[in-house]
Amino acid sequence: MNVSVPADVSGDMIEYLREQEKKSMLRFLTCGSVDDGKSTLIGRLLYDTKLIFEDQLATLERDSLKHGTDGENIDFALLVDGLEAEREQGITIDVAYRFFATSKRKFIVADTPGHEQYTRNMATGASTADVAVVLVDSRQGILRQTRRHSYIASLLGIRHIVLAVNKIDLMDYSQDVFDKIVADYMEFAKDLGFGTIKPIPMSARFGDNVTMASPKMPWYTGPNLLEHLETVPIENDYAGKPFRFPVQFVVRPNLDFRGFAGQVASGSIATGDKITVAKSGQQSTVKEIVVHEGSQKTAGEGEAVTIVLADQIDISRGDMLVAPEARPHVADQFQAHVIWFDAQPMIPGRSYILRTEVDSVSATITTLKHQVNINTFAHEAAKHLNMNEVGECNISTQSPIAFDAYKSNRVTGNFVLIDRFTNATVGAGMIDHPLRRASNVHWQAMEVNKTARAELKHQTPMVLWFTGFSGSGKSTIANTLEKLLHAQGKHTFMLDGDNIRHGLNRDLGFDNDDRVENIRRVSEVAKLMTDAGLVVIVSFISPFRAERQMARDLFPEGEFVEVFVDTPLEECIKRDPKGLYKKAQAGEIANFTGISSDYEAPENPEVHLHTLGHDPEALAIQIETYLKKR
Ligand code: ADX
Repeated sequence: MNVSVPADVSGDMIEYLREQEKKSMLRFLTCGSVDDGKSTLIGRLLYDTKLIFEDQLATLERDSLKHGTDGENIDFALLVDGLEAEREQGITIDVAYRFFATSKRKFIVADTPGHEQYTRNMATGASTADVAVVLVDSRQGILRQTRRHSYIASLLGIRHIVLAVNKIDLMDYSQDVFDKIVADYMEFAKDLGFGTIKPIPMSARFGDNVTMASPKMPWYTGPNLLEHLETVPIENDYAGKPFRFPVQFVVRPNLDFRGFAGQVASGSIATGDKITVAKSGQQSTVKEIVVHEGSQKTAGEGEAVTIVLADQIDISRGDMLVAPEARPHVADQFQAHVIWFDAQPMIPGRSYILRTEVDSVSATITTLKHQVNINTFAHEAAKHLNMNEVGECNISTQSPIAFDAYKSNRVTGNFVLIDRFTNATVGAGMIDHPLRRASNVHWQAMEVNKTARAELKHQTPMVLWFTGFSGSGKSTIANTLEKLLHAQGKHTFMLDGDNIRHGLNRDLGFDNDDRVENIRRVSEVAKLMTDAGLVVIVSFISPFRAERQMARDLFPEGEFVEVFVDTPLEECIKRDPKGLYKKAQAGEIANFTGISSDYEAPENPEVHLHTLGHDPEALAIQIETYLKKR
């Protein structure tokens, strides 16, 4: 391939690469709104530093004529928006990483889209960045997104901001316009804790102040963007940080070798050093540090190595080797800041998969303490987080995880939240601190336990979870079944939505947030009752798959029996035993399941009752038959 390399590169490629090795590396990202010109700016940087592959350049010139928005000139945005699909939509859709270098520094830039719903990409692209280049359109000034992205940059621990006041050509290269935008931004950002904020007036399109000083703005005497990026001091975040090594996999080529492969997240290690396994607390000594080319004495931050220990201890993927004198927290409850990405809101009480560098566990937001208003930074009460919102939450995980506070370690202090059903990454989080209560509350071991209680009753505890529309016949069938079981000498208890909502859950309404909490509470109660050895019948609409799954996850395999009372909505509306559908249709009841709130039918219920044309006795017997067969 033909490469145009910088002019100072001699024919000796090896020498060139060696030079590159020695330079410091700066990671930055660009952010801003859709039309702020991010892609054009990055394209301009790559073009002006002459590190574009020549074949790419040919394509670019051709494409500029075809797709470009810049007439006969080269449209630099096309250089960055590499994907055909993106071009068709006219917006960038994912994070793209670009590498380039000058004689002073190497750069990795994460190009992150600015469309309102793409906060996700920014948070993903930014987690390792040193500098954020915040683009502002001179015609528009500081926008909501400028604020949002700056706030997220500060949350993510980015220390340096370049305020790129772009498209200044469209405002006659006016100093007044620039000064006003800078003043607005400084006022807004004063409490965000950035180390430096460098405002630069520029026109990415024409190259003013990108890599060359602009003759059009003699009033600006500061550095151009590239000069600034080449010289902005980047402190090594990880200097002096304790050793952290998430184990990615166990290397076991033969019986004589057992090593733990991963990347040093922070600190350093040398042969002979003591290490501790974060969660189990087991200790050992580093016997050997193996790399591709053989062994080495030490390994530092960012290095991918395989560590061999002196002792045979039980370590697997997901463990973390750490410095014994500075261990991370190990807890199952902590406080964190969460940035929410998904169109479906984050609801406290709902279960998500929480993934850190090392762990992947079920987790729920136990409390949403407040959401942060990104204009004023005020803490505002909220019941859920919508897309792009940021909140401070308490989170509880199903089992303890090992972590550091994000402010002391960006690698071991961050996590993402994943939707259990769609597998989409729906949020990102930065851990503030563990909750002390987590370490002060311990399980009390009981001598009379679930098994003992159940034996006395001669039965196997279980939960029969009825779900279906209001008016589907849940309660009637559940009642009939309870009578049947009772007659057989079974110890049962019935938890019915309408009844529980008069007592335990009388504070809850019917919006999504409250329904999630409704089901969370009743499933915990059902769990206590199975611990008491009972056969528990739960009859709640329980309209959401996620919460039925959460309830199921509370119980051992086989103890949770989902009974789908499948009565078509039209039939329920026709029956309308309490006259509620009529009211809902008239708009007198909000969020009514089937009318103005969703019902997500079970996909694989243990028992699926098609109720049409069957009486409650026959349906109850159908359940009883299923139970007997097991
Ligand atoms: S759930 O959706 O949160 O599981 P739950 O089973 O507790 O609902 O309560 C449902 C009962 O509350 C219905 O049988 C009905 O009598 C009553 N109800 C009152 N308002 C609503 C509403 N907006 N949607 C559904 N049911 C309602």
